[in-house]
Amino acid sequence: MSRRIAVGADHAGVDLKDALAQLLRERGFEVHDCGTSGHDSVDYPDFAHAVCAEVGSGRSELGLLVCGTGLGMSMAANRHAGIRAALCAEPFSARMTRMHNDANVLCMGSRVVGPGLAEEILSVFVTTAFEGGRHARRVGKIELGAAPTG
Ligand code: RB5
Repeated sequence: MSRRIAVGADHAGVDLKDALAQLLRERGFEVHDCGTSGHDSVDYPDFAHAVCAEVGSGRSELGLLVCGTGLGMSMAANRHAGIRAALCAEPFSARMTRMHNDANVLCMGSRVVGPGLAEEILSVFVTTAFEGGRHARRVGKIELGAAPTG
């Protein structure tokens, strides 16, 4: 069964989102596109919430969010319980946030990274596994109200 990834963007990120969605499809991923689909001005939290609902429900394994800077998307996404959204502008952070933080949503800024770099960041993000172990304990403590685990 193919891995499913939910993608979303505002008007500033839609072109990059569409290009990255196409790359994901070419690599065999199932893409659930939460929009937006044109260049009309829209509000980035609407798309962050749609993608996070997909990931939070387990319907999609991972999420991708693109706006102008990635900042607004990451702020909105991280309001969701169980969502660990990482804003990345280079591949090292994308690798580490999968390995150590079990990040499940990647945020990028279309006005920050070019298309080639964005492809590399996404590629690393979707192919890197969580290391678990001591990192699982720490990730468990991210959620507010989580029981202390030592
Ligand atoms: C839209 O102009 C811009 O504010 C948005 O794409 C994003 O960068 C917000 O964080």
